[in-house]
Amino acid sequence: MNKTFALIRGDGIGPEIVEQAKRCLDAVAERFGHEFLYVDVDMGGVAIDKYGEPLPETELNKCLSSDAVLLGAVGGKKWDDVAPDLRPEKGLLKLRKSLGTFANVRPTKIWRGLGHLSPIRRSSGVDFVIVRELTGGVYFGEHRTDKTAEGLVASDVMTYSEEEIRRIAIVAFETAAKRRKKVCSVDKSNVLDTSRLWRKVVHEVALDYPDIDLSDMLVDNCAMQIVKNPAQFDVIVTENMFGDILSDEAAQVSGSIGLIPSASNGAGVGLYEPIHGSAPDIAGRDVADPIGTILSAAMMLRDLDLNKEAACMEKAVETFLSEGYRTVDIATDSEDVVLGCSECGKTIARLILEEKI
Ligand code: IPM
Ligand code: MG
Repeated sequence: MNKTFALIRGDGIGPEIVEQAKRCLDAVAERFGHEFLYVDVDMGGVAIDKYGEPLPETELNKCLSSDAVLLGAVGGKKWDDVAPDLRPEKGLLKLRKSLGTFANVRPTKIWRGLGHLSPIRRSSGVDFVIVRELTGGVYFGEHRTDKTAEGLVASDVMTYSEEEIRRIAIVAFETAAKRRKKVCSVDKSNVLDTSRLWRKVVHEVALDYPDIDLSDMLVDNCAMQIVKNPAQFDVIVTENMFGDILSDEAAQVSGSIGLIPSASNGAGVGLYEPIHGSAPDIAGRDVADPIGTILSAAMMLRDLDLNKEAACMEKAVETFLSEGYRTVDIATDSEDVVLGCSECGKTIARLILEEKI
């Protein structure tokens, strides 16, 4: 099968981790007889430096005409002082909005043999996904700062329509239908109108899914429950900013944010990215963990119906970890075989070629 992937290497550790995911995709292509083509796209700080904006139309169009987009990470201190509308992150938000990827799925599980990395003592049975609404809410409302007689006043507007809530709720119920059939809808309905609407619409959608067990949870309680008893969750569905915050918390439960992939879908072309940032402090030192990006590439293949290929990539990561290979973020033991970013990618690529499936 022929597929064209837009590769956004981005900033910080982005280029290093994307290179390793590409290496693994090449191994999949070799093993399964596919042809994968790659189109490089500049986005984030690197695009600001080159073109004066974080995602020029020409770069965006390359994404829109690809089969899927694989992204490393964007941002860094270097661009902290650029105008808010030109920040690296604005490129990412523009990309998500333009692709229409309103549904962001972020899985958290504790890998076999990595339980000791979790800060949670009762961590067995942890395997849940956060379905985060990705193209609405406060991220996309009006942002403004006004000079007033009392000094500066800033506001960020959070808006949700019934339709925006309905479509993400459907994704959550469909996701749960293929898992343990539990949806926990997270909101702040004791304070926010958007959350009261959220709860109403999620319950309406639930009527179409009588087999799914729906519960509601306030976001502050959810933040606590993820630490107290993460095994209780199957699918969490929540709005954009709550999902941003809770998914970082959930990632740490698994031991390292470096391991967590994500898939964003909606209108057509999907976007796949690890949930961590660009980690400028470790960039260029070949110590970044590429596993989150490699697993994002696996999610990308699965969404393109390349199921065997996706399973092979995931199995290779599992074998990598069970054989004691580690990147520095997950190394704790003297028996660990600690590899740099590129050796990690090479080893997983080799395992993809060797894996029995
Ligand atoms: C994420 C990131 C982004 C977000 C930033 C980089 C804009 O934190 O993907 O979780 O807030 O969505
Ligand atoms: Mg985040």
